Amino acid sequence: MDIERLLVLEVARVTEQAALSASRLAGMGDKEAVDAAGTEAMRQVLSELPIQGTVVIGEGEMDEAPMLYIGEQLGRGGPQVDIAVDPVEGTTITAKGLPNSITVIALSEKGGLVHAPDMYMDKLAVGPPAAGKVSLDFPVEANLRIVADSLGRKVEDLVVVVLDRPRHEKLISDIRKTGARVKLINEGDVVAAVAVAVRGTGVHVLMGSGGAPEGVLAAAALKCLGGEIQGRFLPHSEAELKRLHDMGVDEGKTYRTKDLAPGQQIVFAATGITDGDILEGVRYFGGGARTHSIVMGYSTRVVRFMDSIHLFESGARVNIRV
Ligand code: FBP
Repeated sequence: MDIERLLVLEVARVTEQAALSASRLAGMGDKEAVDAAGTEAMRQVLSELPIQGTVVIGEGEMDEAPMLYIGEQLGRGGPQVDIAVDPVEGTTITAKGLPNSITVIALSEKGGLVHAPDMYMDKLAVGPPAAGKVSLDFPVEANLRIVADSLGRKVEDLVVVVLDRPRHEKLISDIRKTGARVKLINEGDVVAAVAVAVRGTGVHVLMGSGGAPEGVLAAAALKCLGGEIQGRFLPHSEAELKRLHDMGVDEGKTYRTKDLAPGQQIVFAATGITDGDILEGVRYFGGGARTHSIVMGYSTRVVRFMDSIHLFESGARVNIRV
């Protein structure tokens, strides 16, 4: 069964509904409520899909998350698929009404997405021209030179996205010393990783550490886009180290896109909650709302930007303008 063809439109419904629900609470100051709204909506639509799905990346372990927990079975029957979700990627920015929050999902055949534990991961993401050329083992300057050469521009003409965290102080200073500019983000390194692989976004590299589960979601997207992410797990406690060993991971190992998302059939979808670099947020109008999504498949090699209009009330009018 071709999972990509079966699910490519269905997954958009999953992220659209989650975005519609979460966006109702955007700017209301309650990040838990935002997350709960997105999670519930996502779970509802996933449970209606023609799949036999298993959550491999979700809201946490079974004892800590009531919904979309790791191992949860979803769907009304069909091909076996692994599911990675982040119902609200950027809960605080959504709660504050700030830009760039999304709802995101990736699906693959069984075993197609690494079951990354919830810990930090050092990441380096680039677009297609630099894929296969950069390395987490290289100094910052060497990687930026490679990316600049691959894009036919100077290092000074690059913009590097980094999560604004004290742990990145040295990284930020190293980037600035090369002359490249830094774009600091509050949250949301999945959408940032996608943006570096899309022309016209004005960002070229993602560097620094963020969540490992988000690294797998980004890998699914970058595999579809032909970009690259490299990741190294960063265990911060004995318990995290043990989890890695139980997974058979050597903590020094660099995971590449194909290691994080080894599947041959991958579907990725994300919908904007608030306005962002690649996606518009949910926009309400009298009786309806408009959502903006990116939906793509790895083997089908199609990237769709979907502008959807949801009519909630009879009499609501479709507007041709985005
Ligand atoms: P939320 O789970 O609150 O939405 O945050 C997501 C995120 O910003 C990721 O994009 C990123 O990988 C991670 O958190 C960074 O973690 P930290 O905030 O601990 O630096």
